[in-house]
Amino acid sequence: MSLERLSAGLAREVASMQAEGRAKAPERVIVDYLPPQGSRGPRYRLAGSDLDYIRMNSNSYLSLSHHPDVIAAADAATHRFGAGPGAVRFIDGTFQAHVDLEERIAGFTGRPAAKIFNSAYTTNLGVALALQNDRTFWIGDELNHNCIIRAMRIARVPSANKAIFKHNDMAGLQRCLDAIPATGIDRVVVIFDGVFSMRGDYAPIHTIHQILAPYRDRFYEGLVTIVDDSHGIGAYGDTGRGTEEICGQRADILVGTFGKAFGVNGGFVSASPEVIEAVRQKAQLPDHDQHGPGPRLPGDGLG
Ligand SMILES: Cc1ncc(COP(=O)(O)O)c(C=O)c1O
Repeated sequence: MSLERLSAGLAREVASMQAEGRAKAPERVIVDYLPPQGSRGPRYRLAGSDLDYIRMNSNSYLSLSHHPDVIAAADAATHRFGAGPGAVRFIDGTFQAHVDLEERIAGFTGRPAAKIFNSAYTTNLGVALALQNDRTFWIGDELNHNCIIRAMRIARVPSANKAIFKHNDMAGLQRCLDAIPATGIDRVVVIFDGVFSMRGDYAPIHTIHQILAPYRDRFYEGLVTIVDDSHGIGAYGDTGRGTEEICGQRADILVGTFGKAFGVNGGFVSASPEVIEAVRQKAQLPDHDQHGPGPRLPGDGLG
């Protein structure tokens, strides 16, 4: 069997991850959900145990994942359109429900346009790929979510074209702005989490805008902010508009997830129609980053 030696090699790699304390814990399998009863909240059953558990590590902050209206809407959409789209968006996989959701989320977040993805992770990747070119300079908070950091790497942002400031350190942000090369940069993007996942504090968007103000006109294509408010959107602020609502100011571009307060799955970006169209067009690796033109294989181009 050709997999035998590969399997043994991979098992050795995983064993050394375990020895170094870098391996993930075994998966706990949820086998049942027990709805709230009276004053007792929901409980979960785990494989291999007879106990009922309170779940403290769920991001479904408002329990919308079990809300009857959400379940009924998912049910109705499935009965109308099927359990899957049968194609990617750009090959006739766009359904009215996608378009409706994009309009609703654009309206909810106060922007003219939005695009949905299958996660906030891939949304950040799509946005990074869309905005990155060799004249883009990126500035980020050191505690930005891992997927923003990965997105920068996958979008091949060179180290000379990025700067990182200490968490929520506005003097540090100012130093990053001052360090932008005097020539060769047309657009600057400042990217940060809204509510930071590891700490629960949030980016002071209003203060960030004040710091950026004197720099805004220095670059041919401007200086813009992106907030990834995956933890804040839906859950934070009087109307659930997240960190922007708390700070009383919006970023230029908003990224969020549907996988936390909204209780389902997926991600979105809200911005101008031009940014959203650029994301739709450019949310893929540039050709030179794929495997080159190479020989075409049967099935190439089908998705
Ligand atoms: C700031 C931030 N962005 C993105 C994500 C990933 O969201 P998703 O599960 O939709 O990919 C998380 C998840 O914890 C997050 O905290």
